[in-house]
Amino acid sequence: MDSLSSSFLQKHALHHSLPPPPPLRLLQLKISSVKIDEQYTKVPHLTKIFIRAQPKTTQTIRRRRRKNDFLTIFFNSLEDFICKFMDSPLRPSIDPNHVLSGNFAPVKELPPTACSVVSGSLPPSLNGAYIRNGPNPQFFPRGPYHLFDGDGMLHFITISDGEATLCSRFVKTYKYNLEREIGSPVIPNAFSAFNGLPASLARCAVTIGRVLARQYDPRRGIGAANTSLALIEGKLFALCESDLPYRIKLTPGGDIITLGRHESFGEPFMTMTAHPKIDADTGEAFAFRHSIFPPFLTYFRINAEGIKQPEIPIFSLNKASLIHDFAVTKNYAVFPDTQVLMEPREILKGRPPFRVDPEKVPRMGIIPRYAADEREMWWIEVPGCNIMHAVNAWEEDGGDTILMVAPNILEVEHSLERMDLIRASLERIEINVKKKTVRRRAVATGNLDFAVINPAYVGKKNRYVYAAVGSPMPKIGGVVKIDLSLSTTDSGDCTVASHLYPPGCYGGEPFFVAKEPDNPAAEEDDGYLVTYLHNENVEESKFMVMDAKSPTLEIIAAVKLPRRVPYGFHGIFVPECDIKRL
Ligand SMILES: [Fe+2]
Repeated sequence: MDSLSSSFLQKHALHHSLPPPPPLRLLQLKISSVKIDEQYTKVPHLTKIFIRAQPKTTQTIRRRRRKNDFLTIFFNSLEDFICKFMDSPLRPSIDPNHVLSGNFAPVKELPPTACSVVSGSLPPSLNGAYIRNGPNPQFFPRGPYHLFDGDGMLHFITISDGEATLCSRFVKTYKYNLEREIGSPVIPNAFSAFNGLPASLARCAVTIGRVLARQYDPRRGIGAANTSLALIEGKLFALCESDLPYRIKLTPGGDIITLGRHESFGEPFMTMTAHPKIDADTGEAFAFRHSIFPPFLTYFRINAEGIKQPEIPIFSLNKASLIHDFAVTKNYAVFPDTQVLMEPREILKGRPPFRVDPEKVPRMGIIPRYAADEREMWWIEVPGCNIMHAVNAWEEDGGDTILMVAPNILEVEHSLERMDLIRASLERIEINVKKKTVRRRAVATGNLDFAVINPAYVGKKNRYVYAAVGSPMPKIGGVVKIDLSLSTTDSGDCTVASHLYPPGCYGGEPFFVAKEPDNPAAEEDDGYLVTYLHNENVEESKFMVMDAKSPTLEIIAAVKLPRRVPYGFHGIFVPECDIKRL
């Protein structure tokens, strides 16, 4: 593509008496690669591209720049006007001065920087990279901003033979690149832009104006890739459920690059959950997307060869629910249908397109894992059970029972506005497949979410869960270890180990790293819990390694980071051997 453009420039630069521009014509090109961020993403399919065989003279380029500058000033002035005169007063949940205070404040990118181990030592089984995703707006918002809105930034620590390096990079999404080029936010934030009717309508008009002026093309993506990461068929992705995955790659120098928006796993698709489930035994990835248009839910899987299988549209979900996560067993997929609805008509009332319906009874939808369509799917009502994150699920009693472990959001009405008021109860949810009944039991008394397991046990019976303690959410005051084997006979608290951070210190979601991932005889909890920890008293961040078998989750290594790491969402550990194959 680049060589094509430059050949036009060279050819026509020699001829000042230019012929009239030829009409728009359709060229069919065989494209083998597209240059994105100095890397090449293979695009094997035949692509049709409209080009106008018109020389890009310096004058033309200047004219376009002037037009873009004018449009930018014009639309930005309108946005400023909306923020100053049309927005309703900012609630704390969308006031950027509140949301981005303390260690939620954004940071700039950090090139690979050496860190010092200040306590203990980093074990050889941690050779690899721990990467944590989270929102980090590249521009301080001029108006309303919600915690979920920021551009995805990856904070990753590379560990090799006891040495550690920290690097922080934005995911170079279409949104990020567009706004960087223009120099200000362009794409409206779904969670905060609709703040009162006048501002909502005005922002919609400005966005339509930007699209008509070809400043912004929503077909190229709206997402910030700020939620999580997943390793699918050996490829690493940054994820956000409002968009396609963005493929990223770690470099030998300890840096990270965005290869581009991943538009196909063998066939094109639309959006994808930020919480796909990877079956460590089969290498398959199970995923879904939710939508504001029917079908509101679509289930699909990507086989071990990285090829997406035919989608299963779920028409039996008759309202657009905010389904953030799900679970798979060896024979089933389980979808929680919560009381949080996605309703675009709320925008016409000047509110975000999300609403909690207290009259709605939450449900669980069960579909065979390899279903060809939704004919065998069934739903069961589960009053009072709003699942946003699923920890794991498996089958018992010869497949007659599905056991699911998940935090239940008890005050779901606060899930978008007042996260500090949320209490999440970690529950064992027992679904009788034959009788189609559900029994639930809390397995711990704490406010627990962002829970993980040994990733080798996804979809299989497992014993241990490691959960973050809300203090209150979204701040994390510690980690607890739950022994699920105690939950079958005892309805009490199944916490068997905990590590609470000192006052003023907050961490994030833990991630379990097995000591011997290739040893099938290794015990399930023989490994480490890793996370970032921030000390607000001295404004200092550390990378912490805890012994998952220890009754106190003892810290076996602490790495002082060269600068603070803001609080964020979900992470992943990529072993050294997998980094080489990315
Ligand atoms: Fe999540």
